[in-house]
Amino acid sequence: MTTTNANTTAVEVPRRSGRDVAAAVIYLIAAVLLLLPVFEWITNSYYFFLESREYALLLLNLPARLFALVGFVLMFYQFVLGMRLPVFEKVFSRAVNLKHHRTLGKAGFILILLHGLTFLLHDYLVAGRLLFDPYRVVGMVALAFLTPAVIAAWHFKRLKLSRNTWRTLHLFAYVVFPLGFIHGRNLGAEFATGTWTVNALFSVLLAIYVLLLLYRLAVYFRGQ
Ligand code: HEM
Repeated sequence: MTTTNANTTAVEVPRRSGRDVAAAVIYLIAAVLLLLPVFEWITNSYYFFLESREYALLLLNLPARLFALVGFVLMFYQFVLGMRLPVFEKVFSRAVNLKHHRTLGKAGFILILLHGLTFLLHDYLVAGRLLFDPYRVVGMVALAFLTPAVIAAWHFKRLKLSRNTWRTLHLFAYVVFPLGFIHGRNLGAEFATGTWTVNALFSVLLAIYVLLLLYRLAVYFRGQ
């Protein structure tokens, strides 16, 4: 018996460790196959960036602007969907509005976050340091308000937040919209082009936002 057991063990151990080694080699080859083209891409991108720096910077600048423009409008939708407006609830149920509020909230936040981070990188590549002119700082402050508001909403249960803490953090989002407007209005290329589209649209959105806010405050003080 003992001999058999001893034999079995003696045979199995090298077989299993041989398999482990073979698996490790296969994983390594698979990883190298993935990494080689990625490495080639990084090297080429680096040379491309050095040789056509202006063009490469535009590849950061243009999408980052688009993220901000779309993210800003999504933020506006957030207020409309989250405020439980009676006129809106005649068309869509409250549950549908809240579902869209959550989905668009995630999309909007990711876009705004990408916008901010991309511009930080862009500024660093252009100026060799981060820039802190007043209107950029307004954007940073807006992002600093938005982030806890979104994290509180996403991880409400996991963070075990009380309803009050959650609501207070979520109310930060109200400040972000006007700050985002002031920031974009003073820095944005699409505001500066002289055509009316973004300028007029965003101004109208801001005006509606103010009206909605007044309405919400009136409801709150009436104790509803
Ligand atoms: C770290 C935070 C942020 C940084 C560094 C940043 C940086 C910038 C820069 C440099 C521009 C000018 C882009 C150009 O036209 O060349 C810009 C535009 C803009 N930003 Fe931000 N931003 C930040 C956060 C935000 C936030 C939180 C919002 C919105 C809530 C926002 C909304 C906008 C809008 C709407 C524009 C105008 C885009 C255009 O006209 O093309 N930004 N931002």
